Amino acid sequence: MIDDPEGAFSEPSIKLADTSVPVHDLIRKRWSPRSFADRPISDTDLKSLLEAARWASSSNNEQPWIFFVARKSDAAEFEKLFDLLLPGNQVWASKAPLLMIMAARKTMTRNGAPNHYALHDAGQAFAQLALQAVALGLHVRGMAGFDRERAVVDLNIPEEYCLGAAIAVGYAASPDQLPEKYREMELSKRQRKPLAQFVFGAGWGTPPPAI
Ligand SMILES: Cc1cc2nc3c(=O)[nH]c(=O)nc-3n(C[C@H](O)[C@H](O)[C@H](O)COP(=O)(O)O)c2cc1C
Repeated sequence: MIDDPEGAFSEPSIKLADTSVPVHDLIRKRWSPRSFADRPISDTDLKSLLEAARWASSSNNEQPWIFFVARKSDAAEFEKLFDLLLPGNQVWASKAPLLMIMAARKTMTRNGAPNHYALHDAGQAFAQLALQAVALGLHVRGMAGFDRERAVVDLNIPEEYCLGAAIAVGYAASPDQLPEKYREMELSKRQRKPLAQFVFGAGWGTPPPAI
């Protein structure tokens, strides 16, 4: 059992990335909790998260991302996003002080041509937000598990946009408050494929010499 009397479960050693070579501490410490403390996020920190997303690079500098944002203190707004989550995510996301849903513009603003990098770039914005969260002592968990069809209707999303992920943000808390199934997952070691499985040289399947 983890001793976590103050609910400050933000950097438990079991969750630190076990990297093959050193990486920046923000990357090492980022992980996706399900257990969140009942602690609000300040206006400044909320803006800081979104500012970090804002400065992501994007194809043609399109900045195709949109963030729907709802804090628990705005009960009606929070409920609207929360209601879109699938039950398996609602179980734990109810504790998060901040929910978001991302969308991305599928077409170029300048000529309406398809933007094949819309979700790629939205993903970059998400990643920057996630690292900024760690810098602020916060953590995020992405969620594919929400009702996408209903989100389009409920959030009034225009046709030229596609949906990205939903996101829960907050201060990581002790896994003790989770139902058993989720508690076990929360305490499990993080796994990754080795570099050689996804880094190729100039042809499919063979890692480059440095890897
Ligand atoms: C786009 C996306 C969708 C995800 N969907 C869910 C989800 O619906 N429910 C959930 O519990 N976790 C979800 N996750 C969290 C992943 O399972 C988690 O990031 C992954 O297991 C790696 O763990 P780590 O982020 O702690 O390194 C999602 C993450 C991303 C980026």
